[in-house]
Amino acid sequence: MQDLRITPALLYLDGVSVAFDGFKAINNLSLTLDPGEMRAIIGPNGAGKTTMMDIITGKTRPDEGRVIFQGAHDLTTLDEADIATLGIGRKFQKPTVFESHTVEDNVLLALKGARGVVANLFHTLSGAERDRLDEILALVKLIERRYELAAHLSHGQKQWLEIGMLLAQDPALLLVDEPVAGMTDAETAETAELLRRINATHSVIVVEHDMAFVRDLGVKVTVLHEGSVLAEGSLDQVSANERVVEVYLGR
Ligand SMILES: Nc1ncnc2c1ncn2[C@@H]1O[C@H](COP(=O)(O)OP(=O)(O)OP(=O)(O)O)[C@@H](O)[C@H]1O
Ligand SMILES: [Mg+2]
Repeated sequence: MQDLRITPALLYLDGVSVAFDGFKAINNLSLTLDPGEMRAIIGPNGAGKTTMMDIITGKTRPDEGRVIFQGAHDLTTLDEADIATLGIGRKFQKPTVFESHTVEDNVLLALKGARGVVANLFHTLSGAERDRLDEILALVKLIERRYELAAHLSHGQKQWLEIGMLLAQDPALLLVDEPVAGMTDAETAETAELLRRINATHSVIVVEHDMAFVRDLGVKVTVLHEGSVLAEGSLDQVSANERVVEVYLGR
């Protein structure tokens, strides 16, 4: 029997526009993310991918449109802290781990949140916290390096550590901007696998230029161009789209 209940989108961008000095970086953008979905966003430089993430996270306020989260909150009316509290975590392109702390302490600091660095590091862990710490370190493949300084990790491992720190806050939606830039091919492949595992329990939006990586993700792709959706579908579908080909070849 057909289920007539309406499942609200996890995230719904509805006619969003923003201009910088008269230039429309985002132009009547509409996009729907289902609960539990992982979506890849591609598009040429300047297409508006990062600006879209800035709008979702409250860093940039759009001139027009709504951004509805969990069918209940219009994110365009909230500030960055409120949006983070609602359960939207963001990973910027450059890793921002605490280099002079151990790998484990970096995740611990994220697990404990607002208590303050010193209090956090001396606070005794509960059994559940210890389990969660181990789980995250295993997920991001850093359990064997947990007592080393974060400064000693490779670039790719720092990216994974930061993803682990985000997971510690257990966000409903994870936004990741160009996670594999500067990674080796092996690290890139492992990052696709990591995001697929994360997607088992979290919704994800990932922006990336690396098409081998996007292929490995194996998820629906949205192509942005001049601030709007140019095409949507599997990577094969959008790659076969003439308008997408034109945009990537520079016309
Ligand atoms: N705060 C800002 N002030 C002025 N212009 C901006 C601002 N943020 C973005 N832009 C402009 O908006 C356009 C979209 O930029 P955005 O960074 O979103 O593109 P992108 O798709 O992430 O590109 P890339 O693939 O190079 O990261 C660009 O022309 C950029 O210069
Ligand atoms: Mg960008």
